[in-house]
Amino acid sequence: MNWKNATILITGGASGIGFALAKRFVVAGSKVIVCGRREEQLKVAKQECPALFTLQADVSTAAGRIDLHQRALAEFPSINVLLNNAGIQNRLPPVAEPQLWERHEQEIAINLHAPMHLSMLFLPQLLAQKESAIMNVTSGLAFAPISFMPTYCATKAALHSFTLSLRHQLKNTTTKVIEIIPPAVNTDLGGKGLHTMGAPLDAFADHAIAQILKGELEFGYETSETRRLAAHTALDGFFQSMNR
Ligand SMILES: NC(=O)c1ccc[n+]([C@@H]2O[C@H](COP(=O)([O-])OP(=O)(O)OC[C@H]3O[C@@H](n4cnc5c(N)ncnc54)[C@H](OP(=O)(O)O)[C@@H]3O)[C@@H](O)[C@H]2O)c1
Repeated sequence: MNWKNATILITGGASGIGFALAKRFVVAGSKVIVCGRREEQLKVAKQECPALFTLQADVSTAAGRIDLHQRALAEFPSINVLLNNAGIQNRLPPVAEPQLWERHEQEIAINLHAPMHLSMLFLPQLLAQKESAIMNVTSGLAFAPISFMPTYCATKAALHSFTLSLRHQLKNTTTKVIEIIPPAVNTDLGGKGLHTMGAPLDAFADHAIAQILKGELEFGYETSETRRLAAHTALDGFFQSMNR
């Protein structure tokens, strides 16, 4: 994949992992468009990295995704990479609180429906390019869940499964399917201060961009690399240690 000529749309690309990767793709020579809900955050990202293009968008609804797809292609007809990075993380009581269902549903919509639907919307465009890619950001929690965020973990496990199927379905096309599997990384995911125990953002992003430029199709980092490759018995151990 020639990243110098790539045009990459990154959902949730104005903060955290998405923004860290956006800056690195710009350095690699790609044209990068970042989108997110907060106009203010898009301005902050553009100020720090003036080469970025921004689009205000909300991927939590089908209408929002269709609108993003139309506007993105109208403004950037050379898009050949979709990076499904936008995500939220709720820490909610897991069961028997049906009044919280709307928040679970929002998490499923953003973390799972959005990457699935956007992949389907952009595929005709991607398949028409000489080279193209879909990149999905899952999580080490796709492989061993942490039970105080059951819906979040379920969305990531489902996205991992969808990514495997998509890669297989597209194996004879020019569209590569890449899965980025972060461990806990120090970002504002779920709220400020909840991920300070995670890997430093720049260290993770440096590793991730190196893997992508090398052509890796699936990779983790530190604990998520171990979990990605772990046998089921080892995953049981992770589950036990995280859910004491
Ligand atoms: N940090 C970790 O420990 C960790 C570990 C494993 C996986 N991940 C995954 O990495 C990805 C990035 O997360 P992060 O850690 O970088 O957290 P973050 O800084 O909170 O980034 C999430 C991004 O998603 C955007 N977003 C959320 N809902 C959206 C929506 N409805 N429409 C459009 N954009 C939306 C947010 O922008 P707006 O709020 O402006 O919309 C924000 O820029 C997520 O998929 C997350 O699940 C993170």
